[in-house]
Amino acid sequence: MKARFADRYGPWALVAGASEGLGAAFARRLAERGLNLVLAARRPEPLAALANTLPTETVTVAADLSTVDGVRTVTDAAVGREVGLVVANAAYSPIGRFLDLDPAETRRALDLNCHMPLALAHHFLPPMAARGHGGFVVMSSLAGQQGSPPISAYAATKAFGAILAEGLWAELRGTGVDVVTCVAGAVATPNLADAKARPAPGTQTPDQVVRATLRGLGRGPRVVPGLGMRVSSVVMTRLLPRRAAIAVIARASRDLTRNDQPSGLS
Ligand SMILES: NC(=O)c1ccc[n+]([C@@H]2O[C@H](COP(=O)([O-])OP(=O)(O)OC[C@H]3O[C@@H](n4cnc5c(N)ncnc54)[C@H](OP(=O)(O)O)[C@@H]3O)[C@@H](O)[C@H]2O)c1
Repeated sequence: MKARFADRYGPWALVAGASEGLGAAFARRLAERGLNLVLAARRPEPLAALANTLPTETVTVAADLSTVDGVRTVTDAAVGREVGLVVANAAYSPIGRFLDLDPAETRRALDLNCHMPLALAHHFLPPMAARGHGGFVVMSSLAGQQGSPPISAYAATKAFGAILAEGLWAELRGTGVDVVTCVAGAVATPNLADAKARPAPGTQTPDQVVRATLRGLGRGPRVVPGLGMRVSSVVMTRLLPRRAAIAVIARASRDLTRNDQPSGLS
């Protein structure tokens, strides 16, 4: 089983946004499954600390993935390594009334949450398709399924990621390359804890979300981890009128607080 996973998605995986939360959980699970890892994030110290705990070979890259140069630093670090799996995980969520937000912040969300997965897909998918195997994971969010005040720009970027991944899933069928988007609800990561006073009911652990995502790789275009979140997804997208779904999210997001940290939110 472990060998099959490594043959299909190895020998190297790149985790973009690996220093904590879901990215670090992806790194641990993938190393357990025998993959070597390129670990990227802005802060070198937590990346090095994580790398020291992993059983396989690792390379750490400190880079700001919201910039073109940062993405290039990461793709350069992967040169000469056969990257068979990419996890586009890092995200930035400016929180607050759109009218009060600095346009530079919403632009940063667009650059990190949309340009980064797009650039990594352009760089890594062609060689995977040529080799006839590989995988690509895009982290999305239930917030991206409808308008989500007060994280409207973030939610829109998460819709982009999910729809991009679904299209790529279809385009790459038959090439041996599996693409999946993980549409997660609330996940107990440090950033969620920073931004929310109370965890939402059904909040999952990073490990639960990572396991569900890796289980779903190769089985279909979209994974919604957790039964409660799947029910919520169906209610919000298929049963409620759009304005009611937006109102539900607005109520659920009432206790989101602004902080100085980049946040990835449900
Ligand atoms: N947490 C939730 O409730 C939740 C729910 C649904 C979906 N998601 C999605 O899951 C993913 C992970 O979320 P998360 O809560 O674990 O945290 P996150 O804040 O989205 O990402 C954390 C990781 O990304 C790195 N990162 C942030 N900005 C970066 C940048 N500009 N360049 C490079 N790396 C950067 C962080 O490290 P550095 O600070 O060292 O750069 C950290 O390793 C996101 O895509 C998010 O949208 C999260």
